Amino acid sequence: MGKQTFPDGFLWGGATSAYQFEGARDEDGKSRSIVDNSINAHYTDTSITSDHYHHWREDVALMKELGLNSYRFSIAWPRIIPSGNGATNPKGIKFYSDLIDALLVAGIEPVVTIYHFDLPQTLQDQYGGWRSRQIIADFDHYCYVLYKNFGDRVKYWLTINEQSNMFALPYLLNLSGDESEERVKFQMNHHMMLANAQAIIRAHEMMPHAIIGPAIGLSPYYALTADPQDVIAAHNATVFRNDFFTDLYFKGTYHPEVMNYLVAHDLVPDMEPNDAALLMNPAAKPDYLGINYYESKTVRAAPRDTAYHSPAMSVTGEDVRVGETRPGLYQEVANSHLPTNEWHWEIDPAGLRILLHQIYDRYGVPLIITENGIGGVEQLTSDHQVHDDYRIDFLDKHLVELRQAIAEGVDVIGYEPWSFMDLLSTTNGFRKRYGFVYVNRTDEDLLDLNRYKKDSFYWYQKVIETNGASL
Ligand code: BG6
Repeated sequence: MGKQTFPDGFLWGGATSAYQFEGARDEDGKSRSIVDNSINAHYTDTSITSDHYHHWREDVALMKELGLNSYRFSIAWPRIIPSGNGATNPKGIKFYSDLIDALLVAGIEPVVTIYHFDLPQTLQDQYGGWRSRQIIADFDHYCYVLYKNFGDRVKYWLTINEQSNMFALPYLLNLSGDESEERVKFQMNHHMMLANAQAIIRAHEMMPHAIIGPAIGLSPYYALTADPQDVIAAHNATVFRNDFFTDLYFKGTYHPEVMNYLVAHDLVPDMEPNDAALLMNPAAKPDYLGINYYESKTVRAAPRDTAYHSPAMSVTGEDVRVGETRPGLYQEVANSHLPTNEWHWEIDPAGLRILLHQIYDRYGVPLIITENGIGGVEQLTSDHQVHDDYRIDFLDKHLVELRQAIAEGVDVIGYEPWSFMDLLSTTNGFRKRYGFVYVNRTDEDLLDLNRYKKDSFYWYQKVIETNGASL
């Protein structure tokens, strides 16, 4: 590999998720998910979004034109099994089956996320969703259905998206984010870890050639100053926000510092005798790790008497964002060295390289960037162009750091920026756009849903064509 390019066979892609992109919320037998029912209070709902469900052929043609050789999308559990744990929906299976076939014909490798926030509402109503151990068997059955129907054609699988960030966006789990729910969160997390392990074991059994692992939202944590107390705070945040999750994935064990904390605060989840064996089963070890990277985080020491604050982001469509405080451990603060986007997310390309080194040093497994990108308010010109130079600048700088990390020895197999096309932002609706392709609609008005290529489309096309040499 030359310094200026990426490894041969590097996966150049783009990412989306079902509830943000497909629309057809109530069509062809699909039931509602918890996110369908919770996301629509402050901007448009999930009923139509980008209407990919009805435009998918055109969308695949655009992917091909862009030059993608991979595409990350998620499958909606409530479209495949509307009751959550009963009969499969043939129309749901057909939709994804046709999409996968079309992708393969176009030379695009599907990278399939099994779970991207959209739990069938029926399971939430029946037994509290991820609060209950019953979810593990139902998730296993859902995975079985996916592997049986698509396993012959899909090689790359991602189990659960952003398990760590579901703590940051408690509404995604039907939680309020109050400290009183801390125990519930750790219990849900335990169930997700078991479901994840079971999903990987089953994949390895049913699809020996598959590559499977979770996709997690991660940030490197910086100390605000060289005061050793701030440095310890950065260590604490790294342990609680990163290592805790990734150790459970790759080692099958609770990080000792987190476990001590859980014991001291009476937060230890209920566990059953076989849980440890499932988590540590060698067949449950992920083959790779998907990393969603948007920004780094900076922390300082938080005295014990500081008030607890969950890492909640406001989901009001407004520009409000509050960092996490864990008393005695760390408190998130702004980093004055970094510019921010319109929603105060700090822009830190070097943070990606730092993070990749941290994770690769710790686990030594192949990594894939499953999300990275910048959202902004954009204007379609009268001649149907979008001049998104800020996106080109953001992605260019991140790809340069990614290339450098690879040159330094980190095994990164692909890049799936968020997002291939404009879609419903989880926290800001259609006001915040992420795509290489503009979708002509707003939160208020569906307009014509036409697709228009942005400047970044042509820029990314060139990057892919030259395997990164144009950067
Ligand atoms: C990740 C999610 O958290 O970030 C996506 O996996 C989400 O679903 C993306 O859209 C960007 O966040 P937001 O809130 O700006 O849409």
